[in-house]
Amino acid sequence: MSARHRVKGVILAGGLGTRLHPLTRITNKHLLPVYDKPMIYYPIQTLVNAGITDLMIVTGGPYAGEFLQLIRDGREFGLNGVEYAYQEGEGGIADALKLSEHFVGGDRFAVVLGDNVVGGSIRGAVQAFQRQARGGRILLKEVPDPEHYGCPEIRGGKITRIEEKPKKPRSSYAVIGIYLYDQQVFDVIRGLKPSARGELEITDVNNFYVRKRQMEHAILDGWWGDAGESIDAYLRVNRLVAEYGANKTS
Ligand code: DAU
Repeated sequence: MSARHRVKGVILAGGLGTRLHPLTRITNKHLLPVYDKPMIYYPIQTLVNAGITDLMIVTGGPYAGEFLQLIRDGREFGLNGVEYAYQEGEGGIADALKLSEHFVGGDRFAVVLGDNVVGGSIRGAVQAFQRQARGGRILLKEVPDPEHYGCPEIRGGKITRIEEKPKKPRSSYAVIGIYLYDQQVFDVIRGLKPSARGELEITDVNNFYVRKRQMEHAILDGWWGDAGESIDAYLRVNRLVAEYGANKTS
């Protein structure tokens, strides 16, 4: 097949953000400022810069309505439009993701966790995914603390498995919170069981594709930060944005 697959975007912005308490006691984490903009502006720009203009935002909790006030129809970001979904509870990243099934329809999509900020562009990864026959694609970044993230084991250049926050990491890479999936993902999520922390884990989704040998990966260019990982990570991301800027396209 020669046609390039259409790719939609989904940003996950639910959850409790307890690691940033008390900052998140009276608002949603993704509405907190990162340098001069609300946190959620960054993943939106990441998708728009990659050529993705159809977006769904999944959020939840008492401040969900504020996302509509802030993002509205999304046109100021260059989006065609935005749809919103409401996650009851905090059942995990994969639980939030399943709410996007109707929006995604028969297309492929890029998922960005609402607290992940990148210095550069993911356009190359999205284009590679559009040419990929099937499956998923993830991005890795070398980090000093892989035990805080999904961490891959890599043998012969191939990912053999991913462990979620392993005590003894098998590589120095983090799986960053930007994932590209085909439509199989919704069947995969339906088959998941909650983890020990009671969540449907995105790492279990990714391991399904790894086992099927349908998971491609690349190393992200430029800096990456998970602003929700800890208050220190939040400060680091603020500093990186202030000093180097985010979502640079050249
Ligand atoms: O940032 C990258 C990491 O993100 C990955 O390396 C990990 O494999 C992945 O599990 C994830 O880890 P975190 O512990 O950082 O995930 P967290 O619970 O902070 O959730 C990340 C985002 O997902 C959060 O900003 C909002 C969204 N989310 C999360 C949960 C638990 C939801 O929309 N609903 C939820 O129920």
